[in-house]
Amino acid sequence: MNDAPPISVLADEAAYAEAVQLAVDASAAYYADGTSTLDDDAYDRLVRGIAAYELEHPDQVLATSPTGKVAGGAVVGDVPHLVPMLSLDNVFGADQLAEWAASLERRLGHPVTAWSVEPKLDGLAISARYRHGRLVQLVTRGDGTAGEDVSHAIGTVVGLPARLAEPVTVELRGEVMMTTAQFEQACAKRQAHDGTTFANPRSAAAGTLRAQDRPYVCELTFFGYGALPAPDDTSETATRLRAMPHSQVMAWVAGQGVQTTARTPVAGIVAAALAQVQERVEQIAAVRAELPFGIDGIVIKCDLAEDQAAAGSGSRAPRWAIAYKLPAVEKITKLLAVEWNTGRTGIIAPRAVLEPVRLDGSIVTYATLHNASDIARRGLMLGDSVVVYKAGDVIPRVEAPVVHLRTGDEQPIEIPAVCPSCGDQIDTSQERWRCVRGRACRAIASITYAAGRDQLDIEGLAESRIQQMLDAGLIGDFADLFFLTRDQLLGLERMGEVSSDNLLAAFERAKNQPLSRVFCALGVRGTGRSMSRRIARHFGSMDAIRAADAEAIQQVEGIGAEKAPVVVAELAEIGPLIDKLVAAGVNMTEPGAATAADPGETTGLPLAGMSVVVTGAMSGRLEALSRNEMNELIERAGGTASSSVSAKTSLLVAGEKAGSKRAKAESLGVRIASPEEFADLVAALL
Ligand code: IVH
Repeated sequence: MNDAPPISVLADEAAYAEAVQLAVDASAAYYADGTSTLDDDAYDRLVRGIAAYELEHPDQVLATSPTGKVAGGAVVGDVPHLVPMLSLDNVFGADQLAEWAASLERRLGHPVTAWSVEPKLDGLAISARYRHGRLVQLVTRGDGTAGEDVSHAIGTVVGLPARLAEPVTVELRGEVMMTTAQFEQACAKRQAHDGTTFANPRSAAAGTLRAQDRPYVCELTFFGYGALPAPDDTSETATRLRAMPHSQVMAWVAGQGVQTTARTPVAGIVAAALAQVQERVEQIAAVRAELPFGIDGIVIKCDLAEDQAAAGSGSRAPRWAIAYKLPAVEKITKLLAVEWNTGRTGIIAPRAVLEPVRLDGSIVTYATLHNASDIARRGLMLGDSVVVYKAGDVIPRVEAPVVHLRTGDEQPIEIPAVCPSCGDQIDTSQERWRCVRGRACRAIASITYAAGRDQLDIEGLAESRIQQMLDAGLIGDFADLFFLTRDQLLGLERMGEVSSDNLLAAFERAKNQPLSRVFCALGVRGTGRSMSRRIARHFGSMDAIRAADAEAIQQVEGIGAEKAPVVVAELAEIGPLIDKLVAAGVNMTEPGAATAADPGETTGLPLAGMSVVVTGAMSGRLEALSRNEMNELIERAGGTASSSVSAKTSLLVAGEKAGSKRAKAESLGVRIASPEEFADLVAALL
């Protein structure tokens, strides 16, 4: 898939010594509180450069060199680990994985019996010591042989229960991290406390784990990835655990009430062949951007205890496991400038201009900064080194300045006092600033958008022509297009009879576009093409959309509690524009909605537009219904019945003994209803 980051070439002994110092400092900061002067890629590059130099000049190797050491030699803590907490060697891409597997199999003298494939969680390694089922101590990895006691965090880590299901004595190993939601909460708490935020979830987790006397408490999350009995423990559980395949150990850990990745979309799997391993690697990489927590790779392990024992471990890393690194999604670069642009709805948004960096396969030059208060909140300055995040299809964003890299030459960011487009006043009453002229400020942009191919598709209406019409005072918004007369068009420069007639015909055709496209043309904030289609299909007519309150709008898949009132307010604001379109005879209905599963009947039904999945045993009023009858009921109620939970699922009806579907719905944040709640929802149809 991807290649290893290139190495830093070190020219001489002085450059080598400097590189070692840089790596030692970066590593110390990273393991101390998660901050770093280098991003992961830059650190990897540096250490590989150091290793290459040491290979050529073995006589010059410095004792402080980070090569071959766990945590790059950053020594932290004084609690000895009973079994060393090792690191992992890395591979970058399928070829390197195959090479590694081949060399492992040569060492074993036989093919690996089974592989275990799981996500590499991007947090901090932790050892959780349980005595007779009680959580008694939390220790960081430290230098691998001894770590720091962070037992004060007990009780703040989701997924790490105070008591296990059984009174066993065992050490659980796993990763402590912050989910996206926990990170946002932590940033808000810190913001309220001292006006600063954390750079990213990993450093927030690191800082939080070590913080002892913060006046506010931030929640953390634990995912287990291993269980170790004490080396001298001869109990039955200990003996059993030692002999179990890794996959069974993880099932045992989950059975003790400890969180593992089993209930996430990237749950560990067992693969028989390397091709299957690679397939899972690709699946995990594909969903990475949508996960509610950070991963930076995939860990591939020999599943069987026998294979692990036969492979053995080196001083830094085991030989039975490897980390398949995914491309970095975060890098440090320079903030060169901030541009302010007024969008077609009048929103004034800042955009960061960056020193270009390669992130997740593309070169990033611009990144979103959201709004003015966001800039203030993050304390950004021009010339700052900033952490930039980009993964999958997300718009790159600036996360935070790296304050300890400041040189003193940074300058404040200028905040505009007037609209950068028209010079009129700015309405700063909301977080997102807006030109007081609203959509009228950038009429050219909003009309061009409305006339675009994916909206009204008005052929022959170029932006320059729209500008000409605006300048001549013929139009103020796109509804005015439908009232233009032939004479008015002919009066425009460079407009002949044929072009005028063609344009008039294009306007007529545009009037017949389906509601989804008309709605999209309105440019309601927060609704793009697919959302417009969903809204149109859901309501069927513009009248129904306009009559909907926030609660009704929220029934549309993908519209949450935050977006729904915005949509309602926007529709009220553009009411006169919609009235004008109606008066012009523009179509205001969605043909698709009337020809869906149940022609013309779905609108207003309790499950209209919803994708519903049923799992577990039904009870109460639904007890007698077979799965097929349940699905029929869903469709009679206007919904779509589906058998698998995905991000598109609107509702999971979960009865008793609901298993993996419920877990998946929980991890995806899908609404879950009990059979009784569901029966209430569809009571009229029962
Ligand atoms: S196994 C001896 N499994 O990655 C085996 N580690 O770069 C080492 N990590 O120190 C641990 N997810 O903090 C393992 N599924 C996973 C992991 C994982 C994240 C971390 C762990 C380790 C580091 C090595």
